[in-house]
Amino acid sequence: MLEKFSRRTFAKLAGLASLGLGTTAAKVEEAHAQAVAPKLAPGSFPSGFIWGTATSAYQVEGAVKEDGRGPSIWDTFSHQPGHIADGTSADRANDHYHLYKEDVGLIKDLGVKAYRFSIAWPRVFPEGTGTPNPRGLDFYNRLIDELLANGIEPYATLYHWDLPQALQDRVGGWQSSETSKAFADYSAYVAERITDRVKTLFTLNEVGRFLNFGYGWAIDAPGLKLPPKQLNQARHNVALAHGLSVQAIRAHGRAGTRVGPAENIAACVPAIDTPENVRAAEIATRELNAGFLDVILEGKYTEHFLEYAGANAPTFTADELKIIGERNDFVGLNIYAPQFYVEATDKVPGFSVLPFPNSFPHMNSEWLRIGPETAYWVPRLAAKVWNIDTIYITENGTSSVDQVTPDGKIYDLDRIMFLRNYLTQLQRCIAEGVPVRGYFLWSLMDNFEWIFGFEKRFGLYHVDFDTLVRKPKLSVDFYRNVVARNAVDV
Ligand code: BG6
Repeated sequence: MLEKFSRRTFAKLAGLASLGLGTTAAKVEEAHAQAVAPKLAPGSFPSGFIWGTATSAYQVEGAVKEDGRGPSIWDTFSHQPGHIADGTSADRANDHYHLYKEDVGLIKDLGVKAYRFSIAWPRVFPEGTGTPNPRGLDFYNRLIDELLANGIEPYATLYHWDLPQALQDRVGGWQSSETSKAFADYSAYVAERITDRVKTLFTLNEVGRFLNFGYGWAIDAPGLKLPPKQLNQARHNVALAHGLSVQAIRAHGRAGTRVGPAENIAACVPAIDTPENVRAAEIATRELNAGFLDVILEGKYTEHFLEYAGANAPTFTADELKIIGERNDFVGLNIYAPQFYVEATDKVPGFSVLPFPNSFPHMNSEWLRIGPETAYWVPRLAAKVWNIDTIYITENGTSSVDQVTPDGKIYDLDRIMFLRNYLTQLQRCIAEGVPVRGYFLWSLMDNFEWIFGFEKRFGLYHVDFDTLVRKPKLSVDFYRNVVARNAVDV
């Protein structure tokens, strides 16, 4: 059943939908200031480039009933039979809640100076709204202090899918704009208390995933299959939550706090690099991200999106669009598989999506097609289409089988191959002047991979989920070397 609803299926459905778009192509501005390309030695990244790694709360923390934490939709969902491939939940996961000091040590050993983690809303507001639970935020205060004491800058995400169950029960979660408002209150509360030490906040992680998978196709929590109109409305509520959160952070955080999204942008790549196809990929980037990234960056839905959705378009007001379009300080992009190889066509809106042959290679995760050029094209196209001046790669990485060999080591050469190639393409893009300022490798350590349970391993550090022992894989040496040299082998 899990196979049936893979990300590959999602990409295919979305691709077909895009082909059905039938109106005049929206105009993407032609004129773009020519970015000044930094002078970089082959393989080198600019000085001051931020190297980091990332995790999320539900995937690593465990301690789901400790210190007043309320249940999240993922606690409920993972405990229902048939949802998680190996029948597990993240009740204990990596027990990072108790082992965080050891984990900060692992980050330090990589030599990186930045760590992206997420805050669990149900620890801070167990009921989603109302009375806060100070013991919940205390954990993050301890973590932040430990990071800073070790010279690692904390980057916090406010929402990485663990919606308080109480909000789902009371108002239908993201089906209601009450949840958008509750998210703003939660954002304000957290911003007030941590922005003395945390300078960068991400609002929501991967709307494109959690909304469609959770509310559209019943793959992720909360396991709903909403009809298109309601799904579009829920996505609109999430966009509103983003805008309200940006406002709340500006109003309640310290001056200078920076805020933006961390989105799994629909990754468009020109099938063959011709000027026509590049232009088509720009149009595709805008149109295939119309439901979230585009509306938050432009403050309006594209004509095609509204026309294609027709009666299923979300209901919204001009005031809401204004909030949704609040200025972001940067854009975070999660980059994994190439999703859409496109080419130019005379047919409006000006691009067509090519079908993938069955033989297209993928990594250990079936959905993770190998396309290193994604790390070149996606930031380049995003910067051009939305005129972005600061991009972070908020996630990139791969799963691997990660056998422990008789000598006790883990030679994850496939992960190293993947990272080397993606980083080479990222460097190419930066060398051409695309403003990518940092890179957060997913993930610091193996963890609870949502519907795959503990079967898929994305970590630089191997975790034995019986003993909780963390052990560096060969890729730790690889990444440490990249970070120390501020360069990738070419
Ligand atoms: C990203 C998520 O989509 O990819 C992470 O932000 C996740 O939380 C990672 O762990 C891998 O995804 P999956 O579906 O293979 O667990």
